[in-house]
Amino acid sequence: MSAGVLLDVINAKYCASAVRADQYPPGDVPEVAFIGRSNVGKSSLINSLTRHGGLARISSTPGKTQTLNFYAVSLKVGETQRSDFFLVDLPGYGYAKVGQQARQQWSRFIDEYLTKSSRLKLICQLIDIRHPPMDSDLLAFHRLSESGIPVQVIATKADKITRMAVIKQSGILSAGFALPPERRALAYSAPKSTGRDVLLEIIYQNLFKS
Ligand code: GTP
Ligand code: MG
Repeated sequence: MSAGVLLDVINAKYCASAVRADQYPPGDVPEVAFIGRSNVGKSSLINSLTRHGGLARISSTPGKTQTLNFYAVSLKVGETQRSDFFLVDLPGYGYAKVGQQARQQWSRFIDEYLTKSSRLKLICQLIDIRHPPMDSDLLAFHRLSESGIPVQVIATKADKITRMAVIKQSGILSAGFALPPERRALAYSAPKSTGRDVLLEIIYQNLFKS
């Protein structure tokens, strides 16, 4: 799958926050969205991809990200090519302490985003590697898959378990979501940048090669 070129993310900057479609930034550059339960590590992954520790606000308290946040970045492809795209950080779902209203709000956000953003080319759904998928994860996965946009499952916090456990848990996640071999769960660690190169390759393939 590797294109054999060096990939990196450069020039990351915060662009916009939105709770409605008319607040999405204008333009036609492609987007990658990061979706997952509260506290799973969406904002941390964005910071790790951009190597910009303070870009997306992170917190050990679930529910930190409350809006869709757009970050404008460039993919550096080899020495000469620069391709612009957006990383989109979404609010988390499934946080036990939020009520029905917040859950409906999440659904509304996501449904509107999925239907109104024609620039969305890849959805990364994040799951904590230490746990099997929960009902809310499976529900979200099926809903996202129905959109026809490719969904890449990412198993976060891989540094919290042993390498053997990473292999085992990634297998459990891939089986739980019935993922096809070409879209197996990707183990990721934000502090160690594990999985970063593979994710950049996946972004490159889905945003700029199809
Ligand atoms: P919400 O915005 O509340 O939905 O959360 P989020 O999914 O954006 O999670 P966030 O990035 O804020 O991280 C939540 C907590 O997990 C923070 O304390 C992070 O430091 C920690 N964390 C995230 N990714 C990793 C990781 O790969 N390894 C470790 N050890 N901790 C992580
Ligand atoms: Mg967040």
